[in-house]
Amino acid sequence: MNKRTSQLPGFYKVTVSERRKLVADATGVEASEIARALDRGGLDAETADKFVENVLGTYGLPYGVTLNVRVNGQDHVVPMVVEEPSVVAAASNAAKMVRAGGGFHAEIDAPLMISQVQVTHVKDAARATREILAAKDEILAKADRAVPGLCARGGGARDLEVRTLGQASDEMIVVHIIVDCRDAMGANLINTIAEAVADRLASLAHGRVGLRILSNLCDKRCVRIRCRVSADMLATDDMDGQAVIDGIVNASRFAELDPYRAATHNKGIMNGVDAVVIATGNDWRAVEAGAHAFAARSGQYSPLSIWRRDGDALSGFLEMPLALGTVGGTLRVHPSARLSLKIAGVEAAGDLAAVAAAVGHASNLAAVRALATDGIQRGHMALHARSVALAAGAEGGEVEGVAAIIVEARDITVEAARRALAVLRSDGPASARARSSGEGDVSSKRVEDRQSSNAVEG
Ligand code: MEV
Repeated sequence: MNKRTSQLPGFYKVTVSERRKLVADATGVEASEIARALDRGGLDAETADKFVENVLGTYGLPYGVTLNVRVNGQDHVVPMVVEEPSVVAAASNAAKMVRAGGGFHAEIDAPLMISQVQVTHVKDAARATREILAAKDEILAKADRAVPGLCARGGGARDLEVRTLGQASDEMIVVHIIVDCRDAMGANLINTIAEAVADRLASLAHGRVGLRILSNLCDKRCVRIRCRVSADMLATDDMDGQAVIDGIVNASRFAELDPYRAATHNKGIMNGVDAVVIATGNDWRAVEAGAHAFAARSGQYSPLSIWRRDGDALSGFLEMPLALGTVGGTLRVHPSARLSLKIAGVEAAGDLAAVAAAVGHASNLAAVRALATDGIQRGHMALHARSVALAAGAEGGEVEGVAAIIVEARDITVEAARRALAVLRSDGPASARARSSGEGDVSSKRVEDRQSSNAVEG
């Protein structure tokens, strides 16, 4: 296979089938395999009927790829499943800025998940804790016996912790069994372990078994992403790079001080993370629950990423828990999920977590840069204009032409697009622009440039 690349200039301009060919060439995955796994969403109703209950059919979502992503020196073309316009383009564009500074640097924790066993009606929590800790080896061995397949793959129970909750009059303890899940997300394994050791724990604690389930706050399974972006990469038509850095740092401080802003800041991160999580058949509700619980761990809901000035450049840091799997679960049955791992070029769960977090960091950078400069609507509108142009009947190269005209005229309606299209078809591009905007000398080139730099990968 050729050396993998995630740089595919002009990708957004070509047709869907040409893009499949380009991704095939860049990743070594056969174009026919891409077609097989993605046509009709990769899932028929009969297979879907085996996933969940009361099935009527399947529900399609767009499947795109983020380009320019480089993590720890490796290139990744990253599949994203998302319905929101501009998310894929913005992540690609921000990843390009980061790439110029060396790409994303990721540090990945071991795949440790927490199995929680609640024990209620405990009379003496201190004594219960002592007895459980004294029996640690026995409990861990019992946990391992419940998941022989995981142990054969090198995983298994690693540690045990006891926490006291509640009041002395109604003491409750919770025992955490820490389990290395290797490349599995681990929910089933962890729940199996919780159920296997619960009775013994309750008897050691002289209490009663309560809940037995994983914790989605998997704070021992975090990913940390760092990146450095030079000022010239961040500059816009109207603002120099240094001013953009100040604006982004200011946006970060806002999120650090205000939970209302932190929620939206984190939503921008999850735009990227969730899209990768869904494309790879992983449990995005688990990821969301873990991310937000982690964001609130200090008692104040906080941003998962921060941005700071580093000399003349911008540096970013993101930390979040990410429980993703590259084996088992949906991956066993969903061809599109398996395809996504191949396109992304990842096999280990930790590498997938690093790539997903890097795309989240890129999405966040794109959002805060847009907010600190032109505002978010300009880039969104530029992309929205393309669908309006399509709705007005524009075809092929006409789509970009009509979109540029209606953006320039600040009239992004199907009616305006129809007018622009009619003029474009009868008189040619220059005249169409002049008539639509009322400014004969305004070039749509500026608008196209803005589309490339603010949203669409170029
Ligand atoms: C929209 O999907 C995401 C943003 O609101 C994120 C942010 O405000 O940082 C643009």
